[in-house]
Parts: sequence; structure tokens; C-alpha cells
Amino acid sequence: MVVRAGAYDDELVKTAKTVASPGRGILAMDESNATCGKRLASIGLENTEANRQAYRTLLVTAPGLGQYISGAILFEETLYQSTVDGRRIVDILAEQGIVPGIKVDKGLVPLAGSNSESWCQGLDGLASREAAYYQQGARFAKWRTVVSIPNGPSALAVKEAAWGLARYAAISQENGLVPIVEPEILLDGEHGIERTFEVAQKVWAETFFYMSENNVMFEGILLKPSMVTPGAESKGKATPEQVAGYTLRLLRRRIPPAVPGIMFLSGGQSEVEATQNLNAMNQAPNPWHVSFSYARALQNTCLKTWGGRPENVAAAQDALLLRAKANSLAQLGKYTS
Ligand code: 13P
Repeated sequence: MVVRAGAYDDELVKTAKTVASPGRGILAMDESNATCGKRLASIGLENTEANRQAYRTLLVTAPGLGQYISGAILFEETLYQSTVDGRRIVDILAEQGIVPGIKVDKGLVPLAGSNSESWCQGLDGLASREAAYYQQGARFAKWRTVVSIPNGPSALAVKEAAWGLARYAAISQENGLVPIVEPEILLDGEHGIERTFEVAQKVWAETFFYMSENNVMFEGILLKPSMVTPGAESKGKATPEQVAGYTLRLLRRRIPPAVPGIMFLSGGQSEVEATQNLNAMNQAPNPWHVSFSYARALQNTCLKTWGGRPENVAAAQDALLLRAKANSLAQLGKYTS
């Protein structure tokens, strides 16, 4: 039995607790350049570095954002970027009391030997990249892999997802970054909520099995699960109470209370749906901080309101703050629509 004692253990625990602090959650703004390009195209903008910089400046300079947001996940470009007026983005985040995080996976590619499923690349060279990100101010990391229900999921795909997450988590902890562990179970499909629940149980069982084998310290990680919902093309709709019921049952069965925070992704839910579902999960005390790490459910209206026009920046920031505040209330179980 390896008794693990890493150089960064105390700091990891502290970082995880700061990110998982009451009434706050994560702003996921780590869209890769390709994904950011799709978002910018939706408002008629070209995918240039200047446009990405203008949009991300708008997000991080929203006045008072740190009241609701404890951490921001950045894409590598943004970690090293300055705002339009030349201030380092990491410094603005520090002023707002927001911990900078970094997306470290290298994206999805086809998984040979599977049922047209995918796996996530990025372990090669990860330790040295993370050491540099730490120097630049990052204190947590994110690795997103996906599991598809309509395509299986095959035992091979689940094992690969879980093993990759576990290796990434161990390497991140050795380099001072709290790993956010994100096996996204995609919403796509006609399946009902029971099927999602069954798959999620399997995925989390394997993820924790391999994290144990890799001596990951559970007090120094954060999770980013999908909520348990019916497939997007399913005929049945679930109420926030049903989503909360299934999701909390899953978490209680699979997630040790040593884990400080569960930061859900929004995964294509509408802004209001994502808030209502989170609020329903916080109607009674939980062993972990149950919160959000939303990209689309925080940014959709903000992006549309901006539309690339400087005169709309303040209104777009208000739209972001409105969603951030609603989700902050939902983290406390106090959201009313
Ligand atoms: P969504 O909230 O838009 O699903 O994105 C969260 C995220 O960071 C996915 O990795």
C-alpha cells in the first residue's frame, strides 16, 4: 500500500475548498478555439484572436462577478492573454477573488476497436505543461472526456474514460493543480432517465476505482458530472425534482464524502432549467458542496446580448451576472423563478 504524501497536498485541499465555497460556482469559459469559433459565428463574428480576447475581457471584467463565481476555467490562450486594455486576465481574476483554472485535455478522437466511440487525448507531456500553467497562476485543471449512451457505451470506452481521468488526476495533483474530473455522459439519445442512471453508476464506479489505484487524494479533487436526465430525444421530460432525485441517489451511491465539491456541467440544458435543477438538488443538506460549472447556461444570453458591439458590453455583463446570481442562489437552495 502506497502512503501518499504529495508536496502540494495542503494547497490542493485549500484550493478545492475555495472553489467549493458557499453560494459560488465555476464559470466555464474554456471553449477551445474551434468551439469558440462556433459561438462567435452564431453572432456573426469572425474567429480571430482579437474577437476572442474582446469576449473574454467582457466576461472577466463583469463588475462583482466574484460574489457568485469562485473559479474560471480558461483555455490556454486566455491564461496567457491580456485584456483589451493590456491587463493580464489572471490578475483581473485575482482581483475578483476568482481562482484561475485551465483546460488541459487535448480533445476527443475516435477510439479504435469501439462502437464509433471516442477517447480523450492529452496525457503525453501533461506534467510539464501543468508545471508551466501553475507558474502562470492556474490552480485547478479540467479534463473532459465523454461517454455516449446511444453508441453503447462499450466496456472499453468506459474503462478508457475512467483510466484517462485517473491518470490525469494523479498528474495534476503532483503539479499543484486540483483536477476537475469530468466524464460527461452526453445528453444525445432517446433513452429514458433510468438508462442514464444505470450508465452513470457504471462510469463513476470505474472512475473512483482507477482514481484509488492511482493514489489520487479525494480531498483535493472536484467532480464535474452530468445531471441524470432523460436523453435529449426522449419523449419523457423530467421535472427538476425527478432530476434531483436520480442525480442525488447516484452521488450518494458512488461519491465519497471526502470529495469537497460537485460542480455540474449544463450539457445543453436551457439556462433556467440548469438553475432549477441545481436548486432542486440543494433543498436539503448534502455531504458535498453541490454547485455549477456551466458554460452555455451562464453565457448564452450574455453572448447574444453582446453581439460583438462595444455599446452592448454593459448589458451583456448584466446578463452574465443575472445567471451567475441565479445559480448562486440555486447553490444555496434559495432560487425562485
Ligand atoms: P456546458 O455547461 O456548456 O455543458 O459546458 C461545461 C463544460 O465546461 C464542458 O466541459
